[in-house]
Formats: sequence, C-alpha cells, structure tokens
Amino acid sequence: MNRTGESEAAPAKLNLALHVRERMPDGYHRLETIFVFTEDGDRVSVAPAGQLSLEITGPFAAGLSAGADNLVLRAAVLLREAAGVRQGAALTLEKKLPVAAGMGGGSADAAAALRLLQRFWNTDVDPMPIAVQLGADVPACLTGKPVRGEGRGDALTTVSGAGLGGRPLLLVNPGVAMPTGPVFAAWDGIDRGALDHGEALAAALAGRNDLEAPAMAIAPVIGELLDWLKGRHGVVLARMSGSGATCFALFDRTEDRNRAVDEAARQWPDAWRLASRIA
Ligand code: C5P
Repeated sequence: MNRTGESEAAPAKLNLALHVRERMPDGYHRLETIFVFTEDGDRVSVAPAGQLSLEITGPFAAGLSAGADNLVLRAAVLLREAAGVRQGAALTLEKKLPVAAGMGGGSADAAAALRLLQRFWNTDVDPMPIAVQLGADVPACLTGKPVRGEGRGDALTTVSGAGLGGRPLLLVNPGVAMPTGPVFAAWDGIDRGALDHGEALAAALAGRNDLEAPAMAIAPVIGELLDWLKGRHGVVLARMSGSGATCFALFDRTEDRNRAVDEAARQWPDAWRLASRIA
C-alpha cells in the first residue's frame, strides 16, 4: 500500500579528485574519480496519484524543465516499467542546489527518486541498471557513500572513506552555469596519470581535477575562486567539483570552516555558498 508524505534527500555530489584518462570512441571520457556526498542538497517527495507528475519548487526551480525529459520523471517512468507498477506518483523536487554546477544536480535527484519510489511502490526491482541508463553520475548518487568511479564514472568500487564522514565543507559557486559536455570537450587530451588507490582522502590529496583547466579557460573566475579557497586558514583540500563551476574547501576544524564562511560572505557576496559536511 502507498504511504503518504514520504521524501528522500538528494545530497550534493562532490568529486574529491577527477582524473580524465582518455576520450573514448563514443565521445565519453574514461575517468578515475572519488565521489563523496554532502549532508545537504535537494529533496524529492511523493504523494499518491493516478498518473506520474513532477512539480519543481525551491530557489533554483526557475529555468528547469518539469517535462518528460527531466531526469526525475525519466527515472520514475523506467522504474515503473521495470517493476510493472500501475499506480502513478505526484513527485515534488525541491531544488536547492544550482543547476549545471558540478554537484550532480539532476543525477542526485534521479537517484533520490529511484530510492523513494522503490519504497513508495514497494518494489524490490534493482534500480542500479536504471541508474546506469540515466547518466554517468547516477549510479554513484544511488549509493550515496564515498565511492571510486572508473569507466564513465559508473564502474564503482568501494573506497576506504574512514575519517571523511562529518568533515566540514564550504562550497562556493561563482554563478556561471557550466554544461558538462563542453567542459569535457575542451579537455586537452593529455593523460596526466592514474588516481591512487587506497584511502580516499590521501588519494584525493595526491590527485587533481583534470577539468579545472578547461573550465577555467571558459570561466576564469573559477581560477580566482580556487586560489582564494586554497588560501583559507586550516584548509585541507580546495578543488573544483566535476565539470564546475562549484568549488569546495574541506577543513579539519569546524571553526576554520566557519571563519571561511564569514570571509566568503564578504569576498564572494554574489556567489552561491553552502556550509555543509561530508555525509
Ligand atoms: O552521463 P551524463 O549525461 O551525466 O553526461 C553528460 C555529458 O558529460 C555527456 O554527454 C558527455 O559529453 C560528458 N561526459 C563525458 N565523459 C564522462 C561523463 C560525461 O564526456 N565520463
């Protein structure tokens, strides 16, 4: 039986490191990356209905299509087909994360919709093959845990994320939308080497985000933001996430993160800013 008033968090995704190794014949790129998730993000909720529908609310609802091409609805359609469910679902997406921002956005929302509808429709259909169809980041978002991604980013293996959970973060997006495809397309094609295996933070610290250079070429403000984040007191790692433009700074101490939050409000008053933690 359907339960009412259910909702599911769609945490923001961050790439602690992202190594681009080669362009594949299908135009996608072979990656090595470490995904982590934050305690904050969007939220998907559901109420009983005869049909499938989607309403989008929240500060970043404007400009986002709630039509059949929305990843949340596509996820719902595919799960309903796979599970042979006949009911609908009235879905609401509360969009709190900026779109085209390197934080998983639509992928996180689609993964949350799969988790939510699996409960709501009481089905044990495995959502992972659906996640793979929906996009390269959706499988990682479905796990919601620190995980290493290879291939397109969807071949997942567990990483030792010991010590990552609860670490304070500051996320800053300078307000430039960065569509993923063009940033990958601007990568210079040079393989700069593998991402270390082993403990996630150590591997990330020894690694890089190979999309920073092409993203900075499109939006130089990203370079200014990264330099500024790297200069904060107590910062452990400052890097761009995904294809940008969101950059994050990871701290050991909440006091240092909070100080950076105050400084960011003065230095980057028009930027989107979020104080969060690694989930
Ligand atoms: O899979 P998804 O739709 O999220 O990917 C968006 C775009 O990002 C793709 O169309 C492709 O241009 C680029 N991409 C890529 N290599 C990857 C992942 C994404 O080139 N591994």
